[in-house]
Amino acid sequence: VKVLVIGGGGREHALAWKIRKSQHVNWVGCAPGNGGTDSVAENIQLDTSNPEAVVQYAVDNDIALTVIGPEAPLAAGIVDAFPRDKSHMVFGPTAAAARLESSKRWSKEVMASAGVPTAGWRGFTDADEALQYVRTRPGGSVVKASGLAAGKGVYVCDSPAEAEEAVKSIMIEGAHGSSGNEIIVEERLEGTEASLLAICDGKDFVILVPARDHKRVGEGDTGPNTGGMGAIAPNSEMTDELVQQCADTIFTPMLRMLQEDGTPYKGVLYAGIMLTQDGPKVLEFNVRFGDPETQVVLPLLNVDLIDLMLLAINERLGEFMGNIGLQSHEWQRIHKPDHCASVVLASAGYPGSYEKGKAISGLPNETDNLVVFHAGTKRVDGGVVTSGGRVLNVTGLAATQDEALQTAYTAADQIQFDGKMLRCDIGGFKG
Ligand code: AMP
Ligand code: GLY
Repeated sequence: VKVLVIGGGGREHALAWKIRKSQHVNWVGCAPGNGGTDSVAENIQLDTSNPEAVVQYAVDNDIALTVIGPEAPLAAGIVDAFPRDKSHMVFGPTAAAARLESSKRWSKEVMASAGVPTAGWRGFTDADEALQYVRTRPGGSVVKASGLAAGKGVYVCDSPAEAEEAVKSIMIEGAHGSSGNEIIVEERLEGTEASLLAICDGKDFVILVPARDHKRVGEGDTGPNTGGMGAIAPNSEMTDELVQQCADTIFTPMLRMLQEDGTPYKGVLYAGIMLTQDGPKVLEFNVRFGDPETQVVLPLLNVDLIDLMLLAINERLGEFMGNIGLQSHEWQRIHKPDHCASVVLASAGYPGSYEKGKAISGLPNETDNLVVFHAGTKRVDGGVVTSGGRVLNVTGLAATQDEALQTAYTAADQIQFDGKMLRCDIGGFKG
């Protein structure tokens, strides 16, 4: 069948790469794609912000399954626009369920009614009330724009003064536009972070290999937050007991509550988790695959991704799991026993402003233990140039985490472009 991936980052390259390996698939498209997706897929020009245009393309081109990468089209209702008779299927949550990411406030309310452990919080629509509140909160707090802010709407603050600045910037100066009309102020949690992704069919779910993202731009977790500067999987902090605990205290109650509320969740649900002294707590939900987590999760996945997606869409995940006696937290049974590490090569200046159009050289050929997923790249006259903040995801696969990191860093050293920037401590790498 034909499968179309929506998006054009490293995550979508990894999705297209994995989907191309499916026994069911004979054509993959990626809209808009990038300078690397065209090695596994056909890059398609399409207005992906217009749900009707995407559905029309799927109908006209006999696309059996459309897979949505980023959150914006999901929030815009792209899944709702597809025909309900499943003649053309789509993988992802409805706009109503996607509010888990597009309204942090609603997400917190669902967590509260489901009894899911998360940081204490309050929501505000009035700037004066919010300022009043953060002034009286001793110590650290986290101020978040409730709406979508391309990963930039979260301010982790050390003091009431910093939190005041964050509130002013979001609510008064409008740093994130209307996404900041409502904010939430959270208790600041301490611990190590983990990203846990699960494929969900509305009722049942299966957890994918636990990953770890590195969000800060600078080594030693310093500087501003980015979309993610590198990732590893498995995340060794996420023991089997903890994964089971997350299944029981986070995913199971969330899916049940969403179903009871009439917004059943189908697609991939990504829980950003802080492993605190009091156990795992949710930092946020995303309604899509993580970027760069996907680049380390999919190379380890040992089952056909299309099978999993179709089971989810057709609400048959539970039946499949029952047949093989698979429990939600038993991720090892559907993954290779290997390790994967991905290092992001970014443009100097990212996550602020940066230059584009720099020629890239030294790209290695893909091997069984090395693949470079493209993010912000485009092809010009046979060569590849930079076209975004995060440019490439150099990904190593090996029997140990150290070897996977070594493979990724060795290749990362050989790739060159003007302004190349990377973190040298992904996964605790020490060179
Ligand atoms: P989010 O986009 O909500 O995942 O937030 C981005 C990053 O901010 C997270 O990965 C954490 O590093 C940090 N963060 C968010 N919420 C909290 C919190 N309540 N306590 C501490 N750090 C947080
Ligand atoms: N890596 C963080 C995210 O995908 O939101």
